[in-house]
Amino acid sequence: LITPVILSGGSGTRLWPLSRSKRPKQLLALTGSETMLQMTAGRCVDGGRFGKPIIVTNAAHADDIGAQLTASGQAPAAIITEPAGRNTAPAIALAAIEAQPDAALLVMPSDHVIRDVPAFHAAIEHALPLVAEGWLVTFGITPDAPETGYGYIQRGEAIANGVHRVAAFVEKPDRARAEEYLARGDYSWNGGIFLFRADAYLAALERHAPAMAEAARASMAGASRDGVVVTPERETFLGSPSESIDYAIMEKDDRVAVVPVEMGWSDVGSWDALHGLGDDDGAGNVIHGDVVAIDTSHCLIRGEGVVVTTVGVKDLIVVATRDAVMILPRGSSQEVKRVVEQLKARA
Ligand code: GDD
Ligand code: MG
Repeated sequence: LITPVILSGGSGTRLWPLSRSKRPKQLLALTGSETMLQMTAGRCVDGGRFGKPIIVTNAAHADDIGAQLTASGQAPAAIITEPAGRNTAPAIALAAIEAQPDAALLVMPSDHVIRDVPAFHAAIEHALPLVAEGWLVTFGITPDAPETGYGYIQRGEAIANGVHRVAAFVEKPDRARAEEYLARGDYSWNGGIFLFRADAYLAALERHAPAMAEAARASMAGASRDGVVVTPERETFLGSPSESIDYAIMEKDDRVAVVPVEMGWSDVGSWDALHGLGDDDGAGNVIHGDVVAIDTSHCLIRGEGVVVTTVGVKDLIVVATRDAVMILPRGSSQEVKRVVEQLKARA
């Protein structure tokens, strides 16, 4: 059985004013009636293939996570709570220590969209034989723009059906290199989803980041437990170096493989991305909540607890909650971070 490991540490500011530090993106229902977390867990419920998930989260969100999974009938094996984030490499280490050493861990962000779940499952099947041999497997997304917020994976020789050795892994390249990789055609984006045996991950961590491995082991050895909630020992965990799996392991290890997969993946990184993912009302609008849109086209309009009305506008993003309203032209939703920065500076 594969053990899903769901990472829920991000506080995501790019979907402000809907996402807030208390209510990050993964706890929101953005594309339908289920939250991103519930949709992530729901991708891995096939009992013949997947065991119960391990969730690794900021302690502040543990209660909400437990409640959401209970509501959707997706009982977790464990909810591991971090006193503060030390990025993904230590978070995954906690889950790897909690799991059986020979368990195959499917590490997933809690806030991505995958529209073609059968394609995702097929890619997992392709990878499993190599995972059993100790390979660290990533899933490659076909890039369509020189995005600098992703990892870039160069495909090397084929080592099995649909699986390639990773020739190079470059996390978040600058614009010039991203353009070069896009033009070459033998690079994929890293989807941020990983599959490996728990013991293979911990061995790689020992090789490349022994201080992180040691901190994770010590904090789990001193963990307290209350039902499914596992609380690692605070001070030892806080003493861990902070780094993502991409920089700490994937760029450095040489037993890394990639399975390119077309699965309708999106990391829902902006309001513009959400506009692209939503159902069109016939005039190019994507609408959520109580909205009256007259002579309005190609807008994303979202009302949470308030009525939103528009007349005679196009190409806007309008998001209104009970305590904040944001309006900006479509195509500029990366600017939201400037709003959040100004508000933080003011507070
Ligand atoms: N539990 C826990 N603790 N989870 C964390 C922490 C942490 O300290 N830090 C991040 N996460 C979770 C986030 O909530 C998210 O679900 C996932 O781990 C990835 O973190 P991001 O912060 O979103 O990473 P990124 O977007 O900069 O880059 C990663 O994802 C890209 C694809 O979306 C990398 O893996 C890139 O290579 C990749 O292309
Ligand atoms: Mg991300």
